[in-house]
Amino acid sequence: MIIIGGGVAGLMAALAAAPHPVTLLNAGALGTGAASAWSQGGLAAAIGADDDTSLHVADTLAAGAGLCDAAAVARIIGAGPALIERLLALGVRFDRNAQGALALGLEAAHARPRILHARGDQTGAEIMRALIEAVRAAPSVTILDATARRILTDDAGVSGVLAARGDEMFVLPASRVLLATGGIGGLFRYSTNPPGAIGQGLMLAAEAGAQLRDLEFIQFHPTALDVARAPLPLISEAVRGEGARLIDETGAYFMNGADLAPRDVVARAVFAHVQAGHEVFLDARPLEARFAVRFPAISAICAEAGLNPACQPIPVRPAAHYHMGGVAVDAHGQSSLAGLFAAGEVACTGLHGANRLASNSLLEAAICGEAAGRAMAAYESRAVRPASDPPSPPMPDATPLRALMSAHLGVLRDAQGLAAAAVRFAALAPHNPAAGLCLRIAEQALARTASVGAHARADDPDVTQKAA
Ligand code: SIN
Repeated sequence: MIIIGGGVAGLMAALAAAPHPVTLLNAGALGTGAASAWSQGGLAAAIGADDDTSLHVADTLAAGAGLCDAAAVARIIGAGPALIERLLALGVRFDRNAQGALALGLEAAHARPRILHARGDQTGAEIMRALIEAVRAAPSVTILDATARRILTDDAGVSGVLAARGDEMFVLPASRVLLATGGIGGLFRYSTNPPGAIGQGLMLAAEAGAQLRDLEFIQFHPTALDVARAPLPLISEAVRGEGARLIDETGAYFMNGADLAPRDVVARAVFAHVQAGHEVFLDARPLEARFAVRFPAISAICAEAGLNPACQPIPVRPAAHYHMGGVAVDAHGQSSLAGLFAAGEVACTGLHGANRLASNSLLEAAICGEAAGRAMAAYESRAVRPASDPPSPPMPDATPLRALMSAHLGVLRDAQGLAAAAVRFAALAPHNPAAGLCLRIAEQALARTASVGAHARADDPDVTQKAA
């Protein structure tokens, strides 16, 4: 069994598959390049005294704008409270309140405070620390510093992986492979994702013939720090959950009290305000000195940019943040291709519908990573004999695509722009698999003519209402 990707989904899968041997491919040291490690806000689970998984389910369905898979939502959200117990047992140190109970934060579109966090705003890093320790100690897991270049197949399904380390190419035979490769933010000019997150898992899956779905649903985070850096540092939604508000350069609050509306709504409002010629800021001054205590990493990011959030508004802009679409999988992470599994952001389970509820992604990555690891271990293994020297596809290159993706597949889209982008992507696709992926995204975005969730069409008369 091979797992490609060392974020939360891949690590949980490796642990869940034990004692069955797995080889975990990750480029660089374990954890390098994983968006999981960058997650600030936290992990949502209905563990509060006034909370219930049915409330968390209702919030997830509402944020997803009618396109969630209700069974997937019930299954994944329902598994949240027990997951927290397992993470605590693995040594994850979530923050606690003065009484010693797990501290719960609030984020947009959650009816209850239910966001577990760690080291203030370093939740992903803390979960990754504990999981990496556990995986390193697991005798069943072999960690390999390599990248996957191709999923190899035969008539019965997956037969291996063509991998690369530097200039060296080698074939790893396997009848079971899990993709846990993260998202696509790196295809955009403004992104909060690690730069390498350009949809490699989607390219591998598509080339092998697995089905992809919901590709047009790309979430833009409304509050990336607006500085001359790539990727842009995130200013967590938890900051608004603690009372910060969006203002413009005149000091006017333009959200009409809807700062904690679903992320797609806030991103469109910020985008529209910027388009109208304004600058947008997050005003966290009411938090005063508490800001640095609750958000130490964001404070350090701001300090690096010469900002003190306790006395200065933070300049922000929307940026590509999360891909709701992905490799179509069932409840066990199995894709349409026999032996190919996917979990985490690269997969599309149906949990997020057209717009992900904040902090549901670490939850999904952990629960679905575990489920896929168990399912892979139980999946019948077969003898495979992949060719020893298969051709390698051209290297993906996001550089020529970012301006087009940002101009035409950003917060607001229209048929003309999408069609023009599709023509350019089609011309580049034969030599650049990343362009092939962008083409698929553009085609699905073109085909969905009505606005829903994070997919907003300027040529849909309804969009103006939905942006309000
Ligand atoms: C954030 O901290 O605002 C991001 C959390 C998420 O994307 O779920």
